[in-house]
Amino acid sequence: MCGIVGYVGKNAAVQVLIDGLKRLEYRGYDSAGLAILDKGVFSVLKKTGRVVNVEKLARKSKSPGTIGISHTRWATHGGVTDNNAHPHISSDGKIALVHNGVIENFLPLKHFLEGHGFTFSSETDTEVLSNLIAYHYKTLGGYNGNRVIESVRQSLMQVEGTYGIAVLCTDYPDQIIGARKSSPLILGVGQGEYILASDVTAFALRTQNVVFLRDDEIVCINRDEFSITTMEDNRVHASIETVDWAPDAVELGDYKHFMEKEIFEQPQSIENAMRGRFSQDSSTSHFGGLTLTPQELRHIDRILFCGCGSAWHSCLVAEHLIERFARIPVEVEYASEFRYRNAPLDKHTLVFIVSQSGETLDSLAALQESKRKGYPTLAITNVVGSTIARESDGGIYQRSGPEIGVASTKAFTAQLTILSMLALYLGRLRDMSYEDGIRFVEALKMLPQQVAQILNQAEYIQAIAHKYAHHRDFLFLGRQSLFPIALEGALKLKEVSYIHAEGYPAAEMKHGPIALISPECPSVFLATQKSIIKKTLSNIQEVKARGGPVIAVTTEECHFPKNLADDLIVIPHCHEALKPVLATVPLQLFAYYTSLARNCDVDKPRNLAKSVTVE
Ligand code: AGP
Repeated sequence: MCGIVGYVGKNAAVQVLIDGLKRLEYRGYDSAGLAILDKGVFSVLKKTGRVVNVEKLARKSKSPGTIGISHTRWATHGGVTDNNAHPHISSDGKIALVHNGVIENFLPLKHFLEGHGFTFSSETDTEVLSNLIAYHYKTLGGYNGNRVIESVRQSLMQVEGTYGIAVLCTDYPDQIIGARKSSPLILGVGQGEYILASDVTAFALRTQNVVFLRDDEIVCINRDEFSITTMEDNRVHASIETVDWAPDAVELGDYKHFMEKEIFEQPQSIENAMRGRFSQDSSTSHFGGLTLTPQELRHIDRILFCGCGSAWHSCLVAEHLIERFARIPVEVEYASEFRYRNAPLDKHTLVFIVSQSGETLDSLAALQESKRKGYPTLAITNVVGSTIARESDGGIYQRSGPEIGVASTKAFTAQLTILSMLALYLGRLRDMSYEDGIRFVEALKMLPQQVAQILNQAEYIQAIAHKYAHHRDFLFLGRQSLFPIALEGALKLKEVSYIHAEGYPAAEMKHGPIALISPECPSVFLATQKSIIKKTLSNIQEVKARGGPVIAVTTEECHFPKNLADDLIVIPHCHEALKPVLATVPLQLFAYYTSLARNCDVDKPRNLAKSVTVE
């Protein structure tokens, strides 16, 4: 929900902190700020709006300090004001803190601190934590160890909630303290420098050597070393890992926006999702991270998928594919619902958590609930070392590379590709024939070039988007495994253009939503399944009969009637089970170009953040 960066090294900290924040801005962009510690004094700059507003302030300050912390905010407690921007300095001036997460018991702590003479200048929960650390620092006056680490430890023991924090203390001019609980925090180990951040993108251009911190660990970073301890003050021997991202993966390159770049990266990202994951005889797939043996998988009699947003949509597609290929009953739950529903599950239930970021708190909580109930819990995620990846019993990495645009695109089609391959694997463990397996693998291998063909229609789709960009309401309609894609298309449009859009099963429209049909409410139909095309055409006729504009996505083999739709997008023919992958791409382009036509901030849409690490 927020992005934090800490730096200690040989360079002036300001620019490193600003550059890092810019790469984390997709995590939240309501306000930004930084604190540099130099000669025992904090220089603090903070401002509402984008990071660039703080950068302008920093140009004037030119602080030479080589240690600092910074933050880009997605507001939880307290409005979007300069005062509520992080960092927060304790009222005694000793402690500077940036925080990603929510302190749920901040009010009683605030009252306690006010009773001990601490004052507050913001409405945030974070300032409470800053003063709490200062309070413990003050009471540990005679402590003979590292007083600030102990102060952080004692403070966090009193905290209920989630946090990823970076802390400075004026009495420790060469030291940054970091700690996490349910919010991500990663340490970049550079050449003579250390960078603490919410995710790797903040420092991928400076180093790809990382230490993934775990919940309830505290890291102490000095200029030439770092150490990690647990909340019980036990030493942790962490390994330094290397992420395999190309440094330019976090750069825009020749694109205007990350969403555009990531839409056009999909031939490659789908290829990456499949690479090395087909059997020698190309009749099935395999995944190194699936920790259940074929024998164990044969005994699974129910699969539960959990996710949020687009990830939940990909789970809905998985339900169709796995039930079709493997005949295993599948259930799909919103992660946020599953964690509280106490759903009755069979003893041979397998649970999958799908999450691009691997940090979505609702999805992490669903994973923890599933494991608490003793179910094998696997993850499909895009971020190596993410919390969900590490807390699961195994799983499958998407290999999409960093997805910076807030609206998920390449990660979503990578999930669909992997879930299609998972359905193949499970199907071939059961009754799916060798020939059907061969045929499906061939169809999967065609996807990258078919997506590329659709991307060649970008200008045509842009013209359609411009034609409809003034509308205020849309319906997206599809049947069977294309209904989740209707939901996804509606979500994309909502997210980046702020147009109200709803996805429905096409047949469901006549049970109420058809009341919305008018010349002012266009309908986008996914008319790509030849076996049921007549039904879908009837639904389209119902809309046309009421003056509703229709945009249809179809394939040659459906022989879509000429002039029936106001605008027609034809996508390549492919295996029926892979239609969701291809049908998604025109809807992504439609949403992207509609956003541009409406002058929206397509990569940082209002009110959103890329990774939702609060409940
Ligand atoms: C998708 O475009 C949205 N940005 C959002 O719904 C997202 O899919 C959801 O927050 C889940 O994120 P995750 O996959 O990282 O868990």
